[in-house]
Amino acid sequence: MNKIKKIGVFTSGGDAPGMNAAIRAVARTASGHKIECVGIYNGYEGMMEGKFENNLRQKIANIMQRGGTILKTARSKEFMEKEGRTKAYQHLKNNNIDALVAIGGNGTYTGAMKFGQEHDMPIIGLPGTIDNDIYGTDYTIGFDTSINTAIDAIDKIRDTADSHSRLFFIEVMGRHAGYIALHTAIGSGAYSVFLPETDTIIPEWVAKLNKQRRKLFNIVIVAEGNKNGNANDIAQKVKESGFERDVRVTVIGHLQRGGSPTCHDRVLASRLGYQAVNCLIAGDGGIALGIVNGKLEKNGFEDAIYKTKELDTDLLEMINLLSL
Ligand code: F6P
Repeated sequence: MNKIKKIGVFTSGGDAPGMNAAIRAVARTASGHKIECVGIYNGYEGMMEGKFENNLRQKIANIMQRGGTILKTARSKEFMEKEGRTKAYQHLKNNNIDALVAIGGNGTYTGAMKFGQEHDMPIIGLPGTIDNDIYGTDYTIGFDTSINTAIDAIDKIRDTADSHSRLFFIEVMGRHAGYIALHTAIGSGAYSVFLPETDTIIPEWVAKLNKQRRKLFNIVIVAEGNKNGNANDIAQKVKESGFERDVRVTVIGHLQRGGSPTCHDRVLASRLGYQAVNCLIAGDGGIALGIVNGKLEKNGFEDAIYKTKELDTDLLEMINLLSL
């Protein structure tokens, strides 16, 4: 017998393209099982204020192709405190919500884990972040769209870099993880990439580049969280280290968080949203879902938060070879 009667779904942390597809899948799967589904606005903030959308089923038509999140999102400091979580629980109970689906990244999972430890509430986490830095899933919802958006911009920058024979440093997002930068670098045919996970000694890097005079223009991808500073800092250091040609910087920034999700992100989000409800019906809680090698994977929140998904260093070697 299915004990779940009313599911609350919310998005939290940085928005990611495909979140709407996940919300839609949760609401429609719940509806198919005659379970009510309530939208919670503004992530944990809205949960603490009781900002609920009881008519979610009526709001999800025509959202599959939309970027952002119709439920809005926020990063909440108050929910990090026990009092905030107790307040949220009261609102959920007053609305008879007996299970949650949380769509977001590491911060969202941390909130969900603490909440689940303190209160009797099954929660399923879905990996919604452009960063692709969540353990237990090959891809996060939004990552594919974000790297394709970045590539589209970089292809355009290539034209002008080529025309002027310039060195371009292009900064992409990823405070703690280099997935966006690494994939963007490969896909854009970049000369080099600066990642949070690796060290680059700039004078050596410049000496090597100066030797390769046949290279008339170069694209270099910089992850915002790398150890040498942001793209502007690196450009400055490169000039100070004796780089002889013209240097320019472009920060792609929040452009790569918006836009219509790719089909890959829509399918991933739909699969995970559907499975989240199935898991709740089966009695699961306190777990994060992912897809690994095409198959559904479940991990406790603790593993999903604290285990690291390692970057494939082979890919770095590959970039070095392909840029010769
Ligand atoms: O976690 C997603 C992300 O886009 C990171 O890549 C980036 O560092 C951060 O969010 C930016 O956050 P905000 O939009 O709050 O400035």
